[in-house]
Amino acid sequence: MADKNRDTTAITTGRNGARALASDISTSTTWSSSGLDETHNEAVAGRRSKLYSRYTNPTVRQFETAIAELEGAEDALAFGSGMGALASVVFALCSPGDHIVAQQQLYGGTIAFLNGPVRRMGINVTFVDATIPGAFTAAAKTPRTMLVIAETPANPALALADLAELGAIAIPFTVVDSTFATPMSQQPLAHGVNLSLHSATKGIGGHNDALLGVIAGEAELIDAIWAYSVLHGATASPYDAHNALRGIRTLPVRHERQCASAMHLAAWCEQQAKCNKVYYPGLTSHPQHELAARQMSSFGSVFAIDIPGGIDVCRTFISALQLVRPATSLGGPETLICHPATSTHFGLDEESLSGALASDGLMRISVGLEHVDDLRHDFAQAFAAINL
Ligand SMILES: Cc1ncc(COP(=O)(O)O)c(C=O)c1O
Repeated sequence: MADKNRDTTAITTGRNGARALASDISTSTTWSSSGLDETHNEAVAGRRSKLYSRYTNPTVRQFETAIAELEGAEDALAFGSGMGALASVVFALCSPGDHIVAQQQLYGGTIAFLNGPVRRMGINVTFVDATIPGAFTAAAKTPRTMLVIAETPANPALALADLAELGAIAIPFTVVDSTFATPMSQQPLAHGVNLSLHSATKGIGGHNDALLGVIAGEAELIDAIWAYSVLHGATASPYDAHNALRGIRTLPVRHERQCASAMHLAAWCEQQAKCNKVYYPGLTSHPQHELAARQMSSFGSVFAIDIPGGIDVCRTFISALQLVRPATSLGGPETLICHPATSTHFGLDEESLSGALASDGLMRISVGLEHVDDLRHDFAQAFAAINL
């Protein structure tokens, strides 16, 4: 059969020869053997063994196979969360004295991790503005630069990093957090990036019932990270892998609807007098819209708005919403709103907050599957409730 469309791949992938249409949940944490020799052989087989669920698990493996296929990768490796994936990549690849170049516009947890545990281990970190062409390349020139970390579109204000620039960087490893895009919108590996990373807790799982991270890339690199991760222990649960695999089956249709609604609502918010600014890569007003159109096939389910008046006005706006729920995740069926400066990016110093664009007036909106007219009406009455 000719190359399948990715929408079809989402349906056919990750079955690993099983005839069951839904994945079984392989709950056993360990497998018995015929004796010492067989157990030894399984231990030697490592990731390909049937030894112990921290090494590998059949349900998790089905999920990994699906992600690898959707990302156009040789292999993938799942973790207990997106942060588990990131921490395992960093500590698998970097040693004390090494240098990481990271984007300044990142999920708050990633910034806190790089500034905290990573620096404490003696790994140096340089943050760069991803919106400046060539910024990653220029900063990645030290002899000890081991890893470049980017996130595109970035949490919370949808700044983009140029995948072609990242793919061309010659230092050992580049990793792109592609959570906001999902495999439906962009393929970092096709640009030469070494690893694509997702918090599968978000759009991939898509139902707010799976906490999961995943990386995809060349088999040799994935195997090397596995060898570290089996000791680090941020292991994916088969229950969550099952839920995420189920989520993958409907990812294309969910994503298509969510992107269309996000585009509609972002454009509508842009027309509202009480809205300072709207951040959405699909809008021509986004300063990197051309880059978005070059490297993304759709623009994602998340946009952000900035309103004047700071936290107090945001509080009133959020309280006035009746359908849209205040919560910090994204990519699920329910439309969610959050105020990053006081939640996902809370606790960061002023410099990190402004670098990440998490200003006091910024609210991040993850568009779900409700009818877009109902969402627009809800936002209209929230705008009406704020006095500026
Ligand atoms: C872009 C991005 N990357 C990583 C993470 C961390 O993922 P998890 O919550 O699954 O650890 C998040 C969480 O919000 C995120 O938004």
